[in-house]
Amino acid sequence: MSRPSVISADHSKICKCPKGLNPLRLPTHVAVIMDGNGRWAKSRGLPRIMGHRAGVEALKTILRLCSDWGVKALTVYAFSTENWSRPGDEVSFLMTLFERVLQSELESLQQEKVRIKFLGDLVDLPESLQTSISEATKITSGNTGIHFNVCTNYGGRRELVLAAQKLAERAVKGDLDPSLIDENIFAGELFTASESDPDLLIRTSGEKRISNFLLWQLAYAELYVTDVLWPDFNENELTNALIDYQTRCRRFGGLETDTSNQLQN
Ligand code: FPP
Repeated sequence: MSRPSVISADHSKICKCPKGLNPLRLPTHVAVIMDGNGRWAKSRGLPRIMGHRAGVEALKTILRLCSDWGVKALTVYAFSTENWSRPGDEVSFLMTLFERVLQSELESLQQEKVRIKFLGDLVDLPESLQTSISEATKITSGNTGIHFNVCTNYGGRRELVLAAQKLAERAVKGDLDPSLIDENIFAGELFTASESDPDLLIRTSGEKRISNFLLWQLAYAELYVTDVLWPDFNENELTNALIDYQTRCRRFGGLETDTSNQLQN
């Protein structure tokens, strides 16, 4: 890795972006489908769960880098509504892993001013995990640093259905005129309400799918797919993804070319 250049990104902190990255054109919000843990483990003759352990280490690295470089929000896909169909011991391992990591990392998250939220149908999670989630969410809720969103028991279609249900309930109660429902009102009922939409979606392990992730929110995201397996996704790989993002012309359906990426940030 080249030495970081010290450039002021947002006047409130010194940006430690690596050389080659323009700190003024970073994505505000990065979303990640962390795929390939199982294959990473298999390629080393290890059980799949070791891939998830290694995946946690990669996640800690990427969260810290995003925070240090000035990305404002990181949203990761940790467990989908479809992942319950995995073998029971893998599911139990993941639930225990989430809880342990949350407990062991809470102090660092707090020190680094990270605001953590878990997005998804949390009521289906083990009770002890729900308790750790609500404690971590509460403790970090006033933090002013990066927004770290962990999608757990999350499904994009489910999120849209829940939003529709909530709007319908408000309409039935007479609190909402259906003809006034617009994109802002709809987005306000999603798990991501108040978060800006992701500018960049990174998917590791080479699969070119959205996999029911942030179906509404990714409408205008730039997509970056790499063959690198999640546990191997490191500083160099993140730099490559962000450099690639900075070459994109974001038009949002319009005609502007060079400036739209900059305007978005
Ligand atoms: C996908 O790889 C990965 C997952 C389903 C789990 C991701 C979870 C983590 C990295 C841990 C996150 C921890 C916290 C506390 C947020 P896969 O198992 O589908 O890999 P494969 O496609 O190679 O089988």
